[in-house]
Amino acid sequence: MKWNAELYDQKHAFVYQFGENVLETLDAKAGENILDIGCGTGYLTQQIQNAGAIVKGTDYSPDMIAQAKESYPEVAFEVADAGNFNEADKYDAVFSNAALHWVKNQDGMMDSVYKSLKPGGRFVAEMGGKGNVAKLIAATKQVLEQRGYHKQAKTQVWYFPSMGEYASRLEKHGFRVTYAVHFDRKTPLQDGDQGVAKWITMFAPLYLVGVPAAEKAEMLKEVTALLEPHYNENGQWYADYKRLRFIAVKEI
Ligand code: BEZ
Repeated sequence: MKWNAELYDQKHAFVYQFGENVLETLDAKAGENILDIGCGTGYLTQQIQNAGAIVKGTDYSPDMIAQAKESYPEVAFEVADAGNFNEADKYDAVFSNAALHWVKNQDGMMDSVYKSLKPGGRFVAEMGGKGNVAKLIAATKQVLEQRGYHKQAKTQVWYFPSMGEYASRLEKHGFRVTYAVHFDRKTPLQDGDQGVAKWITMFAPLYLVGVPAAEKAEMLKEVTALLEPHYNENGQWYADYKRLRFIAVKEI
């Protein structure tokens, strides 16, 4: 998927603003070596550096990395695939916010993270958990089916695991899960009744591949109407986010 890094920064800042409290779970210490995978436009990477850590941010999208380098020239950034990477340096911690649900090769990612950690190092992340944006996905699929786009309706865009499933998977890769929580986080959307359409256009264009532009606009209105009773609270729209947050340690 190709990202519009500038629009992401302007309109979807909540992705990293809400990520700020996962930094408390990371608890970066001065002098620690930290790798931030799926760093997007680099806001949290820079926050980790501000805590005194030696950090590098990586992202699969060259556009995101270009934007990150422009915004934070004093921070190290690199294009890399979170599903398969090999770091020469060993890290005290690998961190990730709102990115792991995009990674297709979860086993490759967990192996790569494990190999890049020092013994005793920690993998600290937050991602979409089971049920994340479930209402939005259901409404989008309903409209696709109603209009005959059956193939698109079957698209699986993200991986939102349950806590049990993900903890077991981490354990299979050698980690000890010392903390895990799966919680609701109602997340505000910008731009009122345009927010759902903008969110889908930004994050879920894969559902609409092959749909002519005029019909796309109609469909986005229909999805918005289905979601309105659930998402619109006195003019402020909220999406039904569910987060999975964990600490997994590489045992010595
Ligand atoms: C999330 O952070 O949960 C998320 C963001 C964009 C698309 C899907 C999920």
